[in-house]
Amino acid sequence: MSPTSNPKFKNPRARYNFQGRTCSIAGVGSYVPAKVLTNADLEKMVNTTDEWITSRTGIKERHLAAKDEFTSDLGTKAALKAMARAGVVAEQIDLIVVATITPDMPFPSTAALVQRKIGAYRAAAFDLEAACSGFIYALEVAQQFIMSRTYDTVLVIGAEKLSSIVDWEDRNTCVLFGDGAGAAVLRNRANAHGLLTAVMGADGRKADLLFMAAGGSRCPATAESVAGRLHFLRMEGKETFKNAVQAMQTAAVEALRRCEIDISRIKLIIPHQANVRIIHAVAERLGAKPEQLFINLHKFGNTSAASVAIALDEAVQSDRVQPGDLLLLVVFGAGLTWGAAVIEW
Ligand SMILES: CC(C)(COP(=O)(O)OP(=O)(O)OC[C@H]1O[C@@H](n2cnc3c(N)ncnc32)[C@H](O)[C@@H]1OP(=O)(O)O)[C@@H](O)C(=O)NCCC(=O)NCCS
Repeated sequence: MSPTSNPKFKNPRARYNFQGRTCSIAGVGSYVPAKVLTNADLEKMVNTTDEWITSRTGIKERHLAAKDEFTSDLGTKAALKAMARAGVVAEQIDLIVVATITPDMPFPSTAALVQRKIGAYRAAAFDLEAACSGFIYALEVAQQFIMSRTYDTVLVIGAEKLSSIVDWEDRNTCVLFGDGAGAAVLRNRANAHGLLTAVMGADGRKADLLFMAAGGSRCPATAESVAGRLHFLRMEGKETFKNAVQAMQTAAVEALRRCEIDISRIKLIIPHQANVRIIHAVAERLGAKPEQLFINLHKFGNTSAASVAIALDEAVQSDRVQPGDLLLLVVFGAGLTWGAAVIEW
């Protein structure tokens, strides 16, 4: 047992003897494509209004990737910023993990394509799929490799080109999503706590709430699958909403419990940016104050695995996070999946 060096809170990982091994986020970065699609633009595409979208979701605009711009391109741009801020060059990266539901292709992995684009040829590379929860899942995977002494430097990316799987004729879903990427470089560094805990959960019994039917082994692409619009995401909005609030609350409470801290100790809560009503409902249940919440979904919509990664980067670059602050990341997504992480910055 090695006691935590910081008596302000309990570090759950201090229960284990990592013999001086620590892991922290050395740098973050994000990128969103140039093209902006506003609610007014959507009014011309489907039967909707800016008033409906704003009042039901909080979203005002989202960014869309160009035709020749893919998930690996977005991820690469975010990664290069995170690497520069971490002071890490490509040769130092041991592993690249990309969380995404919109890989450039089913295979090879988007992580391998990013590896080629940044020239990190020493690195192992794989994708991880936990939908909108992917970035927290990927942070935890990266941290496990670092704490186990397998790797010293891991590049984690959440990147999505959701516009490629959104049905632009379905007003129930097309107003909600956007494209973008966020990245973090995790390193073994002395005197750093980093990710204090990461709660991860899943309930495959609710897989039918949010899914894309075709394109996998169950329904390969055919003329019928294309005609049936099966290559687009489908969602039960109301049920997804209810499950999101419940799961995010449960995950956050568990993460705080493990660190033996109260919500008031958290400087900034960075929730998955799907719907501002979900965020406020979770915050209310947690007893959080409005000033503890980081919200940027009005600019980007739901960017799935990139969502909390982009928000974390924006929070850091705008000085809402200082060294020593405690952050709570909390996410929810298809699967169903969910997660929460407490990070000492
Ligand atoms: C999708 C969501 C915004 C819909 O909000 P809601 O308050 O539940 O709205 P409802 O489903 O009750 O729909 C109300 C009406 O608005 C209509 N509607 C749906 N989309 C609309 C749009 N873009 N513009 C105008 N009307 C719309 C519906 O057709 C429905 O009409 P009806 O009552 O005549 O059938 C909300 O359920 C939600 O955010 N769910 C979670 C989504 C999510 O986070 N997904 C990602 C998880 S990672």
